[in-house]
Amino acid sequence: MKQKILFVCLGNICRSPAADAVFRKMAADRGLADSFEIDSAGTYGGHAGELPSKEMQSVGSARGYCMDHRSRPFRDNDFDHFDMIIVMDDKNYEDVCRKAPDRDALGKVSRMAGYCRRFAVDHVPDPYYHGIKTYEYVLDIIEDACAGLLSEISENGKNQA
Ligand code: 4NP
Repeated sequence: MKQKILFVCLGNICRSPAADAVFRKMAADRGLADSFEIDSAGTYGGHAGELPSKEMQSVGSARGYCMDHRSRPFRDNDFDHFDMIIVMDDKNYEDVCRKAPDRDALGKVSRMAGYCRRFAVDHVPDPYYHGIKTYEYVLDIIEDACAGLLSEISENGKNQA
């Protein structure tokens, strides 16, 4: 069975589509593409249908990631479909948890920064309108968190086997 993971930020044009692209590539590079279903969404639907911001497309493509996600709003039925819902900051956490229908759903929500192994951060900052250096920094954090997440899932899989 595929592990279904949804990354969530505010606009779904910077952080969560980047996390989506990074995790996809890391899984594919390890021969694990078929083990996952990956998607991303935003708590704010105002950018629905848009590609990632120009800056995130630029820094992401330069590192070899496919930045072709189209923004979509977070939906209540995402709680049914996904096994893990991973948010970028405290506001995303509040907004998503407020929609959780029950404790099972709440238990699916975690913070991206919690998977970091190199960066000592408690959230992934919003880079929107903050310049290209911030986008590079945010992508560094996302790469660290995705590597940690993939290791954690692989280790849990081994423990369950
Ligand atoms: P994201 O960045 O949540 O990482 O996609 C943002 C994108 C758009 C807005 C805020 C943050 N906005 O206010 O439109």
